[in-house]
Formats: sequence, structure tokens, C-alpha cells
Amino acid sequence: MKTIAIVATGGTIAGTGEQGKAVAYHAGEMNVSEIIESIPMINEVAHIKEYQIMNVDSNEMNPLKWITLANTINDIIKDDHIDGIVVTHGTDTLDETSYFLTLTLNTSKPIVITGAMRPATATSADGPYNLYQAVCLAACDDAKKQGVMGLFSSTIYSGRDIQKINNYKIDAFDQKDFGCLGYMQDEEVYFFSRSFKIHTFQSRFSQKKLETLPEVAIAYFYAGASSQVLYDMAIHHQGIVIVGSGNGNYNQEWLSAINDLSQKGIVFVRASRVSHGIVFDDEIFDPYQYCIAANTLSAQKARVLLMLALSQTNDHQEIVDIFNEY
Ligand code: SIN
Repeated sequence: MKTIAIVATGGTIAGTGEQGKAVAYHAGEMNVSEIIESIPMINEVAHIKEYQIMNVDSNEMNPLKWITLANTINDIIKDDHIDGIVVTHGTDTLDETSYFLTLTLNTSKPIVITGAMRPATATSADGPYNLYQAVCLAACDDAKKQGVMGLFSSTIYSGRDIQKINNYKIDAFDQKDFGCLGYMQDEEVYFFSRSFKIHTFQSRFSQKKLETLPEVAIAYFYAGASSQVLYDMAIHHQGIVIVGSGNGNYNQEWLSAINDLSQKGIVFVRASRVSHGIVFDDEIFDPYQYCIAANTLSAQKARVLLMLALSQTNDHQEIVDIFNEY
């Protein structure tokens, strides 16, 4: 039988509230061992090792906690007796953590991240079943070399592309126009596609232990937005991700601020406030090509990649290449 490590970080899957009710609860309260005890059939799938490394609402995650999580998993996964990892996490910022782990874990063993939309004390809590299936997926041979995967509602998503699309239904995730990697029925795993982007053991960001990350901010563009926010952000940040309209667009005032600040060394990336789609290079809104296209990454995922890129290089073309490869 395989051994799977469950690395718990908190979230609604560990949330408690009024017995039976699904709202008005506190995330990150229950210890993971209590959740595992509520799923006896998990022991028929794998030997479980538990690591409660934090117990927080995922809105309390931050780059230092990401680094702690990645370094802990990189240590655990070196153990030959561990066959795969399941991370339990709040759903609110799970898309950011899953991409960070996609880029920083140096392993070909399966890594699955899951959570819940209903607290553990709700009637029909979704967490225990998600956790059961996540363990089954982490124990599956076909899941090796797939990088980080998200598992929700019997659907397997790529850690790079998973995003939260609903804040009250239990089927709360998708991965943009890429559908999903596969599905599960109880413990059975069915893969239908895979991510071709560089991840985990192939990633240049997983080869060296991280200690800190450069500061990168996100600026949201809207009709009439003043460019002052960009100048303010530039004081304390090395990079800024623009959440532009349409194809990552903005007005002439923002264009001149971006050109000005780029020449002072601030690195800009253009993502889009449109939930689906791709940001391509654009000769009209970015005529000098100062702003790097986020491609299919959301702004918050582009921020993760830009922080990691800036931790290794300030070379503009190298960062462009990183955004094309990852
Ligand atoms: C959180 O992200 O920790 C709270 C919300 C959730 O897990 O669904």
C-alpha cells in the first residue's frame, strides 16, 4: 500500500460553525487528524502521514507562508517512503498557492491540492469526500509527472490553470478554456489531457531553496483610472501586474506612466480583468513592448511568476521568455 502525506494549511475544509449550517463559520479551526478520522475508507487506499503546518483562512496566506509550505513539502517528498502529497487549503487563494507550488516543488511524485466550500460541521460537507479523492489521486501511478493538480467535485485541474469561479456553489472551480485534466469516480482516476507548461521537477524555480521573494503589486485598471496608483506602487515594488481591460489594455495616461516607470527599472506585466481568454502582445496599447503579456495567467498567477522571475533575473527578454515557457 502507498504512503501519502497530508499537509494541512487550514481553510473551510477545516472550518467549524453552527452544527449543520453552511455559512457563518470560521475557516482553519479543526485539526486535520479529526477530518481524516471522519473518513475511515481513506485507510483502505493508503497509509496516511499528517503534517499540520499551519491552520489559517487562506486569505492569511502570503509569500512567506508559500515559501514555508514549498520548503516543507520539498523536505517531506525526499523521503522514499512517501509516494505522494495532498495539501489541504482554503479555496479563496488556492489558485495562487497551487501555481506557486507548481513552480517550486522539485518532484515528479503526485501533488494534489484540495479544500472545501462547506465547513466540516455542515450537513453534506464536501471536504471529506474531496480529501478522500485527493488521496486516491495522489496514490495513482498515472498522476506521476503531472505536476500539481487541484481536486474538487470529482474533477482534476492543473495547478497552473485552476481558478475559483464561484463563491457559494460546491462546484466552484474551472481552468478557463482548458476544461480540466480529468475526472474521478470514487477512487477511479480518468485523465483526458495534460498541461504542457513547465512545472515542478523541470522548473528552474524548484532547483534552489527559496528564502524571500521580491515585492510585486497588482494594479486594477478601470475607466478613468488615474496613473498615480502606479507611481505609488513603484515606490515599494520591483514589479507591477496590470489588470487591464480586454486584452490587458489601459488608457494613454497609464501607457505613459508604464513607459516612464519601465525606464526606471519597474517590470510590468499585462493581465486582463476578463475572466477567460488570453493576453497577447499588443502594438497599440503597448507600442514599446515594455509590458510583458501574461498570456493565459490571471493577474494573481502572473504576480506569482513575476516574483519568482525577479528572484533570478532583471533581464527583460529573459522574463518575456519565462512568461512564454511557464
Ligand atoms: C479560505 O479560503 O480559507 C476560506 C474559504 C474557503 O476555504 O472556501
